[in-house]
Amino acid sequence: MAVKGRGNPVTGIFRRSLRRGFDRAERGVDAIFGPEWNPLGQLGALGWFLFWIVAATGIYLFIFFDTGVVDAYASVEWLSNDQWFHAGITRSFHRYASDLMVVVMMLHLAREFAYDRYRGVRWFSWFTGVPLIWFVYISGITGYWLVWDMLAQYVAIVSAELLDWLPIFGEPIARNFLTPESLTGRFFTLLVFLHIAIPLMLLTVMSIHIVRITGARVKPSRALGGMVLGGLLVVSLVLPATSQGPADLGKVPTEVGIDWFFLPLYPLIDIVPAGFIWAGVALFTLLLCAMPWIPPLRAPRPAEVFLDHCNGCARCVEDCPYAAIDLVPRTDGAPFPHQVVVNPDRCVACGICMAACPSSSPFRRRADLVTGIDLPDFPLTELRARVVTTAAALEDPGRVLILACEHGAAGAAEGVVVLPCVAMAPPSLIDFILSRGHADGVCIAGCAERGCQNRLGVTWTKQRLAAERDPYLRARVPRERIETIWAGPTETARFSREVKAFRDRLAALPPETPRVRRAAEAVEFKLEGPVLEGPVLEEAES
Ligand code: HEM
Ligand code: SF4
Ligand code: SF4
Repeated sequence: MAVKGRGNPVTGIFRRSLRRGFDRAERGVDAIFGPEWNPLGQLGALGWFLFWIVAATGIYLFIFFDTGVVDAYASVEWLSNDQWFHAGITRSFHRYASDLMVVVMMLHLAREFAYDRYRGVRWFSWFTGVPLIWFVYISGITGYWLVWDMLAQYVAIVSAELLDWLPIFGEPIARNFLTPESLTGRFFTLLVFLHIAIPLMLLTVMSIHIVRITGARVKPSRALGGMVLGGLLVVSLVLPATSQGPADLGKVPTEVGIDWFFLPLYPLIDIVPAGFIWAGVALFTLLLCAMPWIPPLRAPRPAEVFLDHCNGCARCVEDCPYAAIDLVPRTDGAPFPHQVVVNPDRCVACGICMAACPSSSPFRRRADLVTGIDLPDFPLTELRARVVTTAAALEDPGRVLILACEHGAAGAAEGVVVLPCVAMAPPSLIDFILSRGHADGVCIAGCAERGCQNRLGVTWTKQRLAAERDPYLRARVPRERIETIWAGPTETARFSREVKAFRDRLAALPPETPRVRRAAEAVEFKLEGPVLEGPVLEEAES
């Protein structure tokens, strides 16, 4: 099944294939470990976790590190061999956590690309992610210099030749490495400074990277965190990080072991003219920076606020996954302290806010069906109309209406109303469908739990259905008539199986339950929330 890209017909074969690849891999990992342990669903959080491991171990190592030309190597040897049980292991943690950070970062980049989470208003996180790549690499490379072994000498000489091509240094840096006497302790102090300053810049940009994301996940699950720490400990014990013999500027290092995570380009830099390398780096960086606009996303219009139906309760502010709604002082004289405004530069038109608003009740009359916050391209009126017309075509027995996320597995199955996110469906819509007898059951078909396209859609939906979050599904709604299926675009077979099983279960339930309930509950029903006028219980579609 093709991955859909709403408003953007040019989704790209490459991205679709990559998305399918991720979806399959994630399904495999989910099947073995479960979503909580699945690293692929928590790559950004893992990146943060690894950063803190690298920072903490780096600070510890610094206690034992000497910055002199000879002392540097000697101090690293001493801490690795004589003090292996604490400082040596810390060194290995520092190295392997850094290597893992490169892998995690690259996978994270590829996954965000595959999931198409980098275009349109989501350009910001991608764009600010690009400098992170270079900060991570430069931090690692300066780290290798500090050990001042043969690998460090090789890295230093190659890097110096590369840097000297740029017309920014008065004196060529390579001069520092011509003879043993030319290298001074001052140069080492500069390296230590860089190895501390660049990770601090990395941290600053990492914080900027997530400012447009509500409640960004910066901590992996305990299970995954424990697994990573355990893995690092095992690798550190089995394969402790070592140095490669002291640097000797009197000799040219001929054979060195390369760290392929940080230094894969070094053998190439050695043979290709520096100008070409810089051109390649610049082109790659420019291309990455430009990617959110090639091709640009034809996005739907952002959410719109209707003050007459907004009491400033801030539920939409709390539920928006992209920090796109601000609570501001009231401007229309209504007796509420606040109202909300949507920031169009951040809104992806997922509709989650519409479902969060207490005014979004499908039970209202067609003329009254205006809510506090709505999507101009897919308003609540249209949602209800699609539900009613799709439901009218359902056939007995076991009429299932599927409210499906466009990024999940439901596709063009029968009885599907496709939404930008399942969390766009207010719980009252499920109540409406069942209590009005539009269907015998409602299936909520969202993205896989590990990869919600709108980050929080699956979480909010689960919490609303479990009555843990406003607006919640009323107790009166028969739970046996609701099914949730969380499945990615490649999980169509499981999706179909589960829908069929649900249909069979519904067919076995006593018939007409919702229609019988309808008359009794119509009297009891009363809408929560702000401004409400007129009868709310009129048949919406009549
Ligand atoms: C040090 C490396 C990085 C770390 C620690 C990191 C961390 C994160 C975190 C924590 C999130 C939020 C996840 C969530 O809760 O939904 C995120 C999102 C994102 N990151 Fe990164 N990131 C890194 C590098 C990159 C790079 C290199 C790119 C691409 C160039 C990138 C692109 C993105 C994008 C597009 C999003 C999603 C924004 C959205 O959902 O709208 N990141 N990152
Ligand atoms: S439509 Fe989605 S992104 Fe836009 S304001 Fe509402 S919840 Fe936020
Ligand atoms: S009433 Fe609706 S639009 Fe207004 S703040 Fe509450 S959720 Fe947002």
